[in-house]
Amino acid sequence: MSLLIKNGRVITATDDYIADVFVEGETVVAVGKNLAAKADREIDATGMLVMPGGVDPHVHLDMPFMGTFSSDTHETGTRAALFGGTTTVIDFVLQQQGHSLKEALNEWNGRAEGTAVGDYSFHMAVTDFNDKTRAEIKEMIEKEGITSFKTFMAYKGALMIDDRQMTALMQEVKLQGGLVTVHATNGDMIDYLVSRHRAEGKLSPLYHYLSQPEVTEAEASGRFADIADYTGCPGYIVHLTCEGALNAVRNATRRNQKIFVETCIQYLLLDASLYERDFEGAKWVMSPPLREKKDQLTLWAGINQGLVNVVATDHCPFMWKQKLMGKDDFSKIPNGHPAIEHRMELLYSEGVHKGKISLNKYVEVACTNPAKIFGMFPRKGTIAPGSDADIVIFDPQQEHTLSANTHHMNVDYSAYEGRKITGKVKTVLLRGALAIDNDKCQLEKGYGKFIRRDKVSGKI
Ligand code: URP
Ligand code: ZN
Ligand code: ZN
Repeated sequence: MSLLIKNGRVITATDDYIADVFVEGETVVAVGKNLAAKADREIDATGMLVMPGGVDPHVHLDMPFMGTFSSDTHETGTRAALFGGTTTVIDFVLQQQGHSLKEALNEWNGRAEGTAVGDYSFHMAVTDFNDKTRAEIKEMIEKEGITSFKTFMAYKGALMIDDRQMTALMQEVKLQGGLVTVHATNGDMIDYLVSRHRAEGKLSPLYHYLSQPEVTEAEASGRFADIADYTGCPGYIVHLTCEGALNAVRNATRRNQKIFVETCIQYLLLDASLYERDFEGAKWVMSPPLREKKDQLTLWAGINQGLVNVVATDHCPFMWKQKLMGKDDFSKIPNGHPAIEHRMELLYSEGVHKGKISLNKYVEVACTNPAKIFGMFPRKGTIAPGSDADIVIFDPQQEHTLSANTHHMNVDYSAYEGRKITGKVKTVLLRGALAIDNDKCQLEKGYGKFIRRDKVSGKI
């Protein structure tokens, strides 16, 4: 099958021009003006943006967490991602303490293989680093194509590792050519503040926010950067939310260190005033919590300064009845919110349409950088001859409203209910196949492929 996308405005992280895109099978074969190629099918993209499929490197699908499972499976989550223009996601495999990485990987393969609609890869979350785990790092990278290792400096007593394990893990990952990513907040401080608030009977969602002040994130981000600098291991901070944490990264640049930074769409758009809505605030109980307006400004500026490299979602949805597990105690509310479907459109509407970032920057942080940082470029993250034909045809003018009534995520509320946005995903191709057209998913479950990733350099 061949396909010619005619006359669209092709946007990559560096280019912006009117051209045709010729696709053969799963691959882009040519990009250029007035291509003479004859194709089985043509799409007229006049007036549309033609962009690479989005890459969301931070999603939690069907994940056991806080006594329940995130409510999107690999099928429903990757399908919803496609509706929103995200063609590849990176999900997290969680090692169980006392068990091997391989056991965890087998479990996640069992959930994703044959069910994912869109393409996916895995980060390996290391929750118990010991000599046995050390020996598995090389195998993960070389045999499994999993080159990023997630760590938690928080969730004490569950997922958290200490600095001893962090240092040893980073040494090994550096040696084998991988990258360490981190949930960087001070787990001991948070643990103390949570128990103090609970002891004082302060149990509403607002105290989730008050138990994770900015300093907990700034401190841990600086500590992580220091350990990464000492070990020489490439480091990536996930879901960075605030000025203090970004300043810790800025400080690291003074010694010419590069720490990759990801923020998430919610931290750019939403703020902590939502926690004042009594239990409705549980919709936005996530870790780290939403911050202040001044932090949003810092993050937008950080994108333009090249300090924030990626905008992800940390998609981790829970049904409202799951959120109700914490009705009487904020510490029991499953942490996370749904966003996998909305990242590309929200970032376009709030970022590009409102003039905060350029179109090239948009593609860079939503598609190209995640592909580069995590070893999938140029297969993913750009439109170029030889790349996978993961392509989004986007109407930059169309206005629409987000709602749980129309979204495709398996969750019964929207964190963005009633939000009016400008710009809509019209057509999505995944490896040359029509994935989304006319607001319908054209792919069956099982079409999504596991994407093996290359070793990383720590540079982009
Ligand atoms: O609240 C969140 N972020 N839930 C998912 C787990 C994590 O920390 O990323
Ligand atoms: Zn996290
Ligand atoms: Zn997460």
